[in-house]
Parts: sequence; C-alpha cells; structure tokens
Amino acid sequence: MKNDFLKKVLVSEEEIEKRAKELGAQISKDYDGKRPIFIGLLKGSVPFLAELIKYIDIDMEVEFMHVSSYEGVSSTEVKIVKDLDRSIQGCDVIIVEDIIDTGKTLKVVKELLYSKGAASVKIVSLLNKPDGRLVDIEGDYYGFNTPDEFVIGYGLDYNQLYRNLAYVGVLKEEVYQK
Ligand code: IMP
Ligand code: MG
Repeated sequence: MKNDFLKKVLVSEEEIEKRAKELGAQISKDYDGKRPIFIGLLKGSVPFLAELIKYIDIDMEVEFMHVSSYEGVSSTEVKIVKDLDRSIQGCDVIIVEDIIDTGKTLKVVKELLYSKGAASVKIVSLLNKPDGRLVDIEGDYYGFNTPDEFVIGYGLDYNQLYRNLAYVGVLKEEVYQK
C-alpha cells in the first residue's frame, strides 16, 4: 500500500501500545473486584479494543454494538445497526470508541445503555478531538488528544479505507477533496 494519502503520522504504533498498557492498568485498578463488560462500537474500535484488553488483568467480558448516527429533524438520531444480544441489567459497562469528536453518538449510546439497566457506564476512547465537541459529554479515559483534523488509521476510516494502518495519521486534504 503506497502512503501517498498520508499528510503525517500523529501517533505511532509504539505510542499506542504504551498508552494501552497504561490505560489497561488504570482500568483494572478502578474496576478491581468488578466484572466490567467492554462494549466495542463497530467498526472503528476493534483494533484499540483488541490492544487494550490484553492489559486488563481482572475478569471482564466483551460485547459489540454497531450504531450509525445521522441528523434528524430536530436532533441527532442514532440508528442501531447491531444491538447488544444480551442483557446488561445491573452491569458495569465500559464503552470502547475510536474517537470522540462532536460527542453526539456517544451521548445517545450512553443514555441508551443506562436505559437498558446498566449500573454504570464509562467511556474509553483512543482519541479525543476536544475542538470538535458540540454536545456536553466527556470520556472517562482517553488515549490521546488530536487536533481538529481528519485522522485515519488504527480503526479510523475515510470511506471505509485505512482502518488497517498500525498508526494514527492525518489524511491529506487532496484525498478527501477528490
Ligand atoms: P461524534 O458523534 O461526532 O463524536 O462521532 C464519532 C464518530 O465519527 C467516530 O466514531 C468516528 O467514526 C467518526 N469520526 C469523527 N472524527 C473522525 C476523524 O477525524 N476520522 C475518522 N472518523 C471520525
Ligand atoms: Mg465510529
């Protein structure tokens, strides 16, 4: 794969691995004695979830949800493409996401998981784009902050491409102007 789409590398594979270890240790400590369910949001969270859970050293479970958000008449509507296939009543859940940008998707998903009876809902996101925020929501654990630029790699896509990169990078403007 040629890398003529890439403006620059923002976060290297080594940096992600190191940060995932730190986050895994922190989450394991915070949830000691509990059995959290990590809910990965498809598809972007998959590489980060796979890396992070290697460093969770308490009992834990993994589930997946696939949601897609779009602008509705008066608010952001979130369509559930794939729902959870089990009950999370009374469970401590941790949403795993690739990036929090406007925050609209996660705000809806967090409320949805509480409405399904979760005892607690926290968010771990590989990336945080603070300048993109349009609604009042924050993650509980972040890997890295990113500038207000379109990023790709490590699960993040542009038109379904580039999820396979082992690093996070900035896409060249020419690519998405095409
Ligand atoms: P939010 O509801 O705006 O926070 O949207 C979050 C979703 O938008 C993420 O799960 C990504 O799929 C996508 N997204 C937001 N910013 C970027 C980016 O810079 N690169 C790739 N995907 C992005
Ligand atoms: Mg996503």
